[in-house]
Amino acid sequence: NPQRDLQGIRLMVNAGTTCEDIDPVRYIANRGTGKMGYAIAREAARRGADVILVSGKSNLSVPDNLKYIEVWSAEEMCQVMLKHQPACDVIIGAAAVGDFRIAHVAAQKLKKADNTSQVLQLELIGTPDILKEMGKNKRESQIMVGFAAETENILENARQKLISKNLDFIVANDVTMEGAGFAADTNIVTLIDREGDVESLPKMTKDEVASAILDRLVHLLKI
Ligand code: C5P
Repeated sequence: NPQRDLQGIRLMVNAGTTCEDIDPVRYIANRGTGKMGYAIAREAARRGADVILVSGKSNLSVPDNLKYIEVWSAEEMCQVMLKHQPACDVIIGAAAVGDFRIAHVAAQKLKKADNTSQVLQLELIGTPDILKEMGKNKRESQIMVGFAAETENILENARQKLISKNLDFIVANDVTMEGAGFAADTNIVTLIDREGDVESLPKMTKDEVASAILDRLVHLLKI
């Protein structure tokens, strides 16, 4: 029973961790694995959507039947997504975008410290909030979905992000819970929309969470 309820829908999703260079051999990244975003991309493609997967670093294999764009930094991910935004019906931000980059990337490999008490300081500077940037250009008919990984005041923080990034709904999860968050294969999420409707889902595999998100999308797209 192949469900093709996203046939013809142009969907862009980002995934994985962004990386910020320190010098030619070192970088900073985060614990994002790409599992959630890749699950969304796979499931959307299976359901007939034209999918663009914009991926930062991830060890997962590239899914079939979609356009795959690999990026490195938050800035690069932002540029790629802004470029493709006008041609998309749906944008989902599942990437663990780094919030900081190195202010001055060293042209040469930094020398190791002479001893363990030597302090090396790295200056950090903010990265663009990709969803927020896209939220500013959002067309009336475009649907944007974000994630909110929280450790406290989940609903309140998630609602604030929904509004500030101009999203249609947000997928909130408590990353401190067992079976939720970064490297896990499962997630425990709450979907919150602009009308204030709150749907708490039980612990599910990330594939099942992806399906639930896409079901909600189909409802919003009224297809
Ligand atoms: O503000 P916060 O990082 O908690 O928001 C999480 C959501 O915003 C996720 O959907 C994430 O992909 C997105 N995000 C982004 N650009 C950033 C930081 C987060 O698009 N620089």
